[in-house]
Amino acid sequence: MTGEQENKNGKRIALCVSGGIAAYKAVEVLRGLQRAGCEVRVAMTQRACEFIKPLTFRALTGEHVVVDDYAPDNPDPIAHITFSQTVDLFLVAPATANIIAKFANGVADDFVTSTYLASNAPVLIAPAMNTTMWNHPATQRNLRRLREDGVQIIEPDAGEMACKTIGPGRLSEPEQIVAAALAMLREQEMRGAQDLAGERVLITAGATREELDPVRFLSNRSSGRMGFALAEAARGRGAEVTIVAGETSAPVPQAIRLVRAASAEEMRDAVMKEINEATVFIAAAAVADYRPASRAASKIKKSEAALSIELVPTPDILAEVARARRNGLLVVGFAAETGNVIENAQDKLRRKQLDAIVANDITREGAGFDVETNIITLIARDTDAPVALPLMSKLEAAHRILDEVLRLRRTHEKN
Ligand code: CTP
Repeated sequence: MTGEQENKNGKRIALCVSGGIAAYKAVEVLRGLQRAGCEVRVAMTQRACEFIKPLTFRALTGEHVVVDDYAPDNPDPIAHITFSQTVDLFLVAPATANIIAKFANGVADDFVTSTYLASNAPVLIAPAMNTTMWNHPATQRNLRRLREDGVQIIEPDAGEMACKTIGPGRLSEPEQIVAAALAMLREQEMRGAQDLAGERVLITAGATREELDPVRFLSNRSSGRMGFALAEAARGRGAEVTIVAGETSAPVPQAIRLVRAASAEEMRDAVMKEINEATVFIAAAAVADYRPASRAASKIKKSEAALSIELVPTPDILAEVARARRNGLLVVGFAAETGNVIENAQDKLRRKQLDAIVANDITREGAGFDVETNIITLIARDTDAPVALPLMSKLEAAHRILDEVLRLRRTHEKN
């Protein structure tokens, strides 16, 4: 092991590299994991070796890199056991369309794919491929299947690809992959903790849609990712979870109760129906503050004249819940800001009578809507002191928010 790994965290990761142009970025993923204190063993597919040599990974890990466990130079006669049974996380970066298809169908025709089948460890994959391959129904079907099998997927970025096309398919940034891997490791620990057992957490997520006519609506760019991450994290820690979701584009968490609501008013009604059962309410939805005063029954026709739309306020769900709260209900809100972040969030915390608020500056790169990461500042009513956290995955941020909920619960119980 290298000197960078002196500060070990006791976590073992199998990093599998499959054959794509992004294979070189796996080196950065490896280094990031090592810097975080993880012990990493690397396996590669035969094709990956066309893009980067096993020697690179061997030099960085000090360990043999398995490509073919039948090869005479494989020093570890039980490599498949080392990889499948003794690791805390099975990470594939980059994951090609081919390896995704094989995982989804249980094909085990080389070391990486057979180890995938033989492993009990949680699996995280970071796909990278040409945009057309990514969008192909077969790939999307395979990804859906993998999600159903419990595999976590780091969505690729959109941008210019090596093949000069523009669209989704580029490997997510190495630091995002490392952050997601660390969040999964932490979630596993938390899963063991079950420290939210007995809590019933109600979460709003996604964007509301306020209809103008049968074909048009006002909405926003929320993907639901933050709310879904909170739901997954809370469920993992033993809470009973219900999500009330507006429009969402992020993958929906499996096996968590989810109620759909389209408009702010529908979301308010759905929340009010559920709230008496809840012990914690977290408002992560991006709820429209205004809706058109009326919805036209038929499609509004174009004309030469200017068109104005009268907007009227929607119910503030978070404020209503906080106002009507019973004893013991903890209420957490979000403040997505573009300036004076802390002052605005503190003001919202007091005005809406919240227990805590999660502030984020959505102008910062890596924060805000439709990205895998967030940069949040937590402010609790009892301390009023902002705690600024670094860039982290939304799942990790969700755990930090839940840590705060737990602290508030314990403080609450003492008083
Ligand atoms: N929220 C809500 N119902 C609304 C509007 C917002 O529950 N009708 C919740 C959001 O889920 C989030 C918080 O309130 O937790 C955001 O507060 P809000 O005052 O809406 O923030 P902004 O829209 O950013 O408000 P402002 O325009 O005052 O900055």
